Amino acid sequence: MCFIGRPCLFAILATKWPPRTLGWGIRTDFMQKIQLRHAFGRRNSEKVTCSITPDRGIYLSNRLSLIMYSSKIDRIDCVKQSLMKRRSVRTFTDQKIEQPILDDLIDVAKYAPSGSNWQNQRFLVVTDPEEIQKIGKIRFVWPYKSANVDRVKEAHPAGILGHGAALIVVFADAAKNDARGNGEYYMWEALETQNCSASIQNILTMAAAHGLGSCWVSASEKMNYSRMLSGKTWRDALSSYDIPSTYKMQGVVVLGYPKSYDEAGYAKGEKLHGATDWVSTERQENSHYLINKRDVNASNFDSGLGRNEAFFVLAYSKMIKLLLRLVSYFDRRIHKIEYVRHLGK
Ligand SMILES: Cc1cc2nc3c(=O)[nH]c(=O)nc-3n(C[C@H](O)[C@H](O)[C@H](O)COP(=O)(O)O)c2cc1C
Repeated sequence: MCFIGRPCLFAILATKWPPRTLGWGIRTDFMQKIQLRHAFGRRNSEKVTCSITPDRGIYLSNRLSLIMYSSKIDRIDCVKQSLMKRRSVRTFTDQKIEQPILDDLIDVAKYAPSGSNWQNQRFLVVTDPEEIQKIGKIRFVWPYKSANVDRVKEAHPAGILGHGAALIVVFADAAKNDARGNGEYYMWEALETQNCSASIQNILTMAAAHGLGSCWVSASEKMNYSRMLSGKTWRDALSSYDIPSTYKMQGVVVLGYPKSYDEAGYAKGEKLHGATDWVSTERQENSHYLINKRDVNASNFDSGLGRNEAFFVLAYSKMIKLLLRLVSYFDRRIHKIEYVRHLGK
């Protein structure tokens, strides 16, 4: 083995290829061309020439697909690290986020998948510190339910959002859904949230890769109870922006440079979260999240409710379901009438 280019070495190490099956002779010419001699098992050595493509992928004959792993492993590792090392960060330094990085975040946000290919995700990027404070004050959220609200409000007058160097407010343009006009609006409403959630996750992943801290902060059109919004609506908070009436708020991402990093250079997040209870943000074994085949011998689910309580819970939930069906029935009727009118135009 005369010389091993670094990616190739990674390939061999990372695939844990049993060394006895391989004999490698690799020469690199500034990583542009690799001349590679290999022998698998008892097969005689042969010479294969391959080149590294500009994106670091390696083109070679299919016999040597192992080498492809060198760039593939980089890719897999990068993505997996950014996904797994992302942690919610809620306090930041004062450092501003550079515009190309913000552009990057929007680039990946718009490439998120979207149901029916609506591409209806819309983004408002706020970097002006005064605006951030104003929005944070209106949408004040004290960190944890059990916290002393007055004391926290004094220490963090603009809540979590106020700490950010940038906010990305994510909207779904409901016009895309509404345009169906066939009484299916509610059926597909969830897609608005799902599309935006996909974008938000892309933003968080990319932010992690850039070494930024980020936190997905709950927001929705329906969230206008006074505790969360200081008695004001999202429209009040964002009145200085030109937001079409069809845009529906789906979430906010608060971003900034973190106060500390982990050993791999990713923003350090909190180990506990206490919105309802203090719970660890560490993840459990895969088996905790995976669904098993039903055990036919297992006893029925026990809700822990007494007989009377269980009866009322069941009765209320049936009533609510019925009401929702009624609302959705009338909604469909109205949409159908509108649709017919629209066709007649
Ligand atoms: C839909 C959604 C809404 C969230 N809303 C908030 C929020 O309003 N405030 C907050 O501090 N964290 C919020 N988070 C972040 C979660 O608290 C956090 O993801 C969770 O505690 C796990 O921690 P980790 O992100 O560090 O793994 C939200 C996360 C999601 C997915």
